[in-house]
Amino acid sequence: MDDIYVFCWCVVGLLVLGTSPSIGDLEAEPTCLSRFDYDYKMLQKIVSLEQTIQNLKDSLTESKNKIEDMSRENEQKIQNLKDLLAESRDKIDSGSIYIRWGRFKCQNNAEVVYKGFTAGKKWSDKGSGSDVICLPEDPSWLNYSNSNHLRGSVYGTEINIEEPSGVFEKKVNDQNLPCVACHIKKGSVIMIPGRGHCYTGWNLEYKGYLMTEWHGHPGPHNHVCVDHHPDFMQGGGENNDDHILYLTISKCGSLPCPPYANDRELACVVCSK
Ligand SMILES: *[C@@H]1O[C@H](CO)[C@@H](O)[C@H](O)[C@H]1NC(C)=O
Repeated sequence: MDDIYVFCWCVVGLLVLGTSPSIGDLEAEPTCLSRFDYDYKMLQKIVSLEQTIQNLKDSLTESKNKIEDMSRENEQKIQNLKDLLAESRDKIDSGSIYIRWGRFKCQNNAEVVYKGFTAGKKWSDKGSGSDVICLPEDPSWLNYSNSNHLRGSVYGTEINIEEPSGVFEKKVNDQNLPCVACHIKKGSVIMIPGRGHCYTGWNLEYKGYLMTEWHGHPGPHNHVCVDHHPDFMQGGGENNDDHILYLTISKCGSLPCPPYANDRELACVVCSK
């Protein structure tokens, strides 16, 4: 605002000079005039600069608001896409299935495909299927003839063990075992024999003990991971000696000890990712 001061004084000076030309140096007149002109032009420039700055400020604020609006919109768009992706992931019919041996129920996040009875060949049979199967509790039939000629046989499963077992937290001897097929959204599932814990980054589905046939019984047999806290089938506590599961122990020799130990019951886990 100093410029306005100078300008005003100059105007006053001019007026004074104009009314009484006898006073003061005449040569000062053009100096003051040109100075006035200069200051006036400067002032004009300053005013126009101020206007320009104001305009710039305005357009900057406008741009800032626009950018903020856009980034807010983009954030919303990204969130929508994320939601859509999660939704589609759920819809994609991928996933895994495992049998939870010895239980009626899956874990919370898993869907029950069916539940039923653990079964396999009779302990004394030389043939029949070697694997443990999970027979649904609600069978449905195609054709049948009810003949026992030239057939393989499957029997319900019970556990044989000395009590107290020192392994299971309750008595399990002679109890018939249920089973349940569980469907999970995760793409991979693995049963790890000899581990009571999943590896880092894997999700525990259930833990238990590795079980198979007794080593003295004929025929091949597979291993299954029986839940450490098994359910029992109602009224299934008598000794049937049909298909029988036993704990499995590690034997030192070709298998290095440590890390393994002789005659130690092996744990197992079912893990997913
Ligand atoms: C059941 O048996 C009938 C008569 O022999 C036959 O026509 C039909 O195809 C069979 N069904 C199945 C599912 O095998």
